[in-house]
Amino acid sequence: MKRIAIFASGTGSNAKKIIEYFQESEDMEIALIVSNRAKAGVLTIAEEEEIPSIIIDRAYFYESEQMLFDLKQQCIDFIVLAGFLWLVPKYLINAYPKKIVNIHPALLPKFGGKGMYGMHVHQAVIDAAEKQSGISIHFVNEAFDEGGIIFQASCAVDSDDTAKDVQAKVQKLEHEHFPHIIEEVIGNTFSQL
Ligand code: GAR
Repeated sequence: MKRIAIFASGTGSNAKKIIEYFQESEDMEIALIVSNRAKAGVLTIAEEEEIPSIIIDRAYFYESEQMLFDLKQQCIDFIVLAGFLWLVPKYLINAYPKKIVNIHPALLPKFGGKGMYGMHVHQAVIDAAEKQSGISIHFVNEAFDEGGIIFQASCAVDSDDTAKDVQAKVQKLEHEHFPHIIEEVIGNTFSQL
C-alpha cells in the first residue's frame, strides 16, 4: 500500500475528489492531510473521512525539518499539492525526489510563478485575452510552478467569459483528471524502483 499525503490550504474540492477516488483502491491510500490554514475546508473533510491531519506554520515548515520527521513517521511515500500555496523547502524535495506533484490552474509555463494562484490566475488569463486555459499537473521543484510537466488539459475561454467562468471550467478539468493522473504517476514511480 502506497501512502499519500495531500497538502492543501483552500476549500479542498480537489482533495475531496482525490480522497473519494482512492477510497476503493487496494494499492494507494490517502493517509495524511497537511494544511497551513486552521480553517481550511480540507480539514473538515479530513475529519469526516477520519484521515489524520497536521496544521503547520512557517517555523515548523521552514525553520525545522519536523515536517519530514512527521511524514516519515506516517510512512508517507508520495505528496500531492492540491491548492497548497507555500514553496516546498529543499529538504522535502530532496527527501521525495519526483514524488511530489502539484496542480496549477492554467497552461504552464504561462500564468505561473509566485502569487499566481486561484482567481489571480483566472483574472490574468482574462486580462491577457487568452483563447484557452486549462490545467497543468507537474513535479515540484524548488521554484514555483517550474517542475517537469506531467499532464495538461485545456478548455476554451470565450470572449464573454469572466474569471469565475474560467475558474468553473478549469475546476471541472481538475476534478476529472487529477485523481487518475496521481494514480498513474505513483504506479510508474514505484514500478521503476
Ligand atoms: C485549484 O484550482 C488549484 O489548481 C489551485 O488552487 C485551487 C484549489 O482549489 N492551485 C494553485 O493556484 C497553485 N498555484 P480547491 O481547494 O477547491 O481544491
